[in-house]
Amino acid sequence: MGQYIINGGRKLSGEVFINGSKNAALPILSAALINSGENIIHNCPDITDVSLTLEILKDLGCEISREGKTVIVNSKNAEYCGICQDTAGKMRSSILFMGVMLGKWGRSEICRPGGCSIGRRPIDIHLDAMKELGAKIEENDDSICCTAETLTGTSIYLPVASVGATENIMLAAVFAKGRTVIHNAAREPEVVALQDYLKSIGVQVKGAGGQVIFIEGCSKFNDGEYSVIPDRIEAGTFMAAAAMTKGKIFLKNTNWLHMCKTVEIFSNCGCEIKAEKGGIYFKSPRKIKPASVIRTGVYPNFPTDMQPIVMSMLTIAKGTSIIIETMFENRFNHVSELNKMGAKITAQNRVAIVEGVRKLNGASVSATDLRAGAALIAAALGAKGETVVQNSHFVERGYENIDGSLAALGADIKFSPEINV
Ligand code: EPZ
Repeated sequence: MGQYIINGGRKLSGEVFINGSKNAALPILSAALINSGENIIHNCPDITDVSLTLEILKDLGCEISREGKTVIVNSKNAEYCGICQDTAGKMRSSILFMGVMLGKWGRSEICRPGGCSIGRRPIDIHLDAMKELGAKIEENDDSICCTAETLTGTSIYLPVASVGATENIMLAAVFAKGRTVIHNAAREPEVVALQDYLKSIGVQVKGAGGQVIFIEGCSKFNDGEYSVIPDRIEAGTFMAAAAMTKGKIFLKNTNWLHMCKTVEIFSNCGCEIKAEKGGIYFKSPRKIKPASVIRTGVYPNFPTDMQPIVMSMLTIAKGTSIIIETMFENRFNHVSELNKMGAKITAQNRVAIVEGVRKLNGASVSATDLRAGAALIAAALGAKGETVVQNSHFVERGYENIDGSLAALGADIKFSPEINV
């Protein structure tokens, strides 16, 4: 537990290296169980969700090592064990072990992954899909047990293009007899990354990035090597930070094609954005223009993970913006914290109205989840005076050394571990 102490008003400038994507790395690390061999994963972010996932892999008997940005997972001696509360409870994406464990060992027992402050985070779509592949599900208050003699490939129609469910099915289907076809699959770049990783260990899979994914069950795999794609949400976070400070930055190692909708929104707000030699050049306008209506949605629509972060930027736009959150029922927890800084936001159900103000003022605020924390840091960078953002552990889940990267761009930001009173 710690906090970020930020003195706002410093213009950001310079170059920032965008780390590997959290939401690509997590399913790929689960997939490292498949081949009972060596998996070399480059550009793997050093964040707490990755560390927790590596803990789970260690508990399952994998050998883990990290050399800088490269993580090596050897699953040769992996053995079955259930995933206990103190990891599953901390991280929703522990659910991404369900499919691969069920496929590899015929069973998976995972403590019910907590909901979190952004919503209930149900897993019904995951469980229904496992049943369609042939699993039996036993649920009790705190854990879910799936068992299956064998898994049989089938056609699965997702009611919602769920990212996690799509990935879980892909990981289970690798071990199923025959072909599995996922309809209404999530189309995120992170799903494509998982497909590319699976191909690297010899799995026949195609269609990711579209609405239909085909996976051929197989039993022979080779060692894998893969480089994690850049984190498009981290890139968007630095864009908003620069916009809050009238800054001008170059984002190295960023894939423009993964963030078209986000770039469109920043451009509509007056930001100058250009794709240049393996990165993105970003320049903030003197005054940010409001966004008429922003609606989050499944990829390639505007990502829900960017909603809190763009809302921060819109608090100082020259006019009123409307944001509609269609993905999670409770993803406006950052509103009250931004209003403590002088923002003028009213939120009801899934609609937030952001009336631009001239400037935010420093305050003591609390992160309530990962992206809300990032939003408060962005807001603090543009605010007048000192802001303390509490609950840094939420931010550390998904951002590697965010204070160091921002300081290198000229921000006055310090991390301070909670002083235990
Ligand atoms: C992934 O979560 C991401 N996490 C989230 O990022 C992201 O916000 C989300 O996708 C949406 O893009 C990872 O990839 C680790 P979903 P996931 O299943 O897979 C409903 C971050 O900040 N649903 O695509 O859990 C669900 O309630 C995190 O990095 C069901 O109803 O999201 C939501 O309304 C936050 N039943 C919608 O689908 C289910 O069984 C989309 O959720 C599963 C999901």
